[in-house]
Amino acid sequence: MQVKIFEDHPELSATVAREIQELVQAKPNTILCMASGETPRLTCQLLVQMIRSGKTDISQLHFIGLDEWVGIEPGNSGSCHYFFQHELITPLGLREDQVHLFDGMSTDLQAECKKMDETIDRLGGIDLIVAGIGMNGHIGFNEPGISPDLYSHVAQLDETTLTVGQKYFDSPTRLQEGITLGLKHLLNARKAILIANGKKKAEVIRSAVRETVSNHLPATIMQTHSNGFIMVDKEAASLL
Ligand code: PGA
Repeated sequence: MQVKIFEDHPELSATVAREIQELVQAKPNTILCMASGETPRLTCQLLVQMIRSGKTDISQLHFIGLDEWVGIEPGNSGSCHYFFQHELITPLGLREDQVHLFDGMSTDLQAECKKMDETIDRLGGIDLIVAGIGMNGHIGFNEPGISPDLYSHVAQLDETTLTVGQKYFDSPTRLQEGITLGLKHLLNARKAILIANGKKKAEVIRSAVRETVSNHLPATIMQTHSNGFIMVDKEAASLL
C-alpha cells in the first residue's frame, strides 16, 4: 500500500477522477466500484466533466455501488442510490444493464448479496474500487469487528455510523442496517483507492496507516492490498 498526499480536496479529487478516466480509456470494459458520500462527490463531478470533454467511450463500463442503507427508498436524497443516480448514472447516461446497485428495500437481502457477488464474478472482478473511510474506520458498511473474509453482506451499523449517517438525510432518519460489498471484494479488486479529506479524518487516517492490521479498524486492511493506495489531502494527512 502507498500513501499519497495532495494539497487539498480539489487536487485529490481531480487526480482520482483522472485516474478513473485513464483506466476506462485503456480498458473500456472497466468494472468500477465507487462509494457515495461527501468525500467522493467532487471526484464524481470531475469524472463526469472529463468523460464528457474527452468523449471517453463508456458504453462497456460497468458501475457497482459499494453499499446502501437498508430500508431507505432510492428516491430519498440520503440514499446511496440517489447519490449514484444524480452524480454518475444520469449525467453519464449509463444504461440500466451497466449499473449494479444494492436494493436496500428488497425483502430478500440475502438474495441481493448473492446477486451482487454473482454479478461481480460474471463480469470478471472489480478493476478499481474507490472508497471513503468512516470516522470509525469502516469501508462501505464493513463496520468494526467485521470478518475480512466476507463478500457482500448485511451489516448491523455501529453507533458512530448511525450518528454520522444522519448528515446525509434532510430529517432525522431511523437507520439500523446496511448492505455492502465485503472486505474480500476490496482485497480482490485489481486496484483499491481509499480517499479522505479534512482535519476530522486525520485521526482515523493515522490509525488506518500506522496501526496493526485488525478488524477493529477495518480500513487497516488497506495495508495488505498489493495495489492499494490511501490518497488524502494535507489536512487528513496531518497526523501521519
Ligand atoms: P464521507 O463518508 O465521505 O461522507 O465522509 C465516508 C464513509 O463513511 O465511508
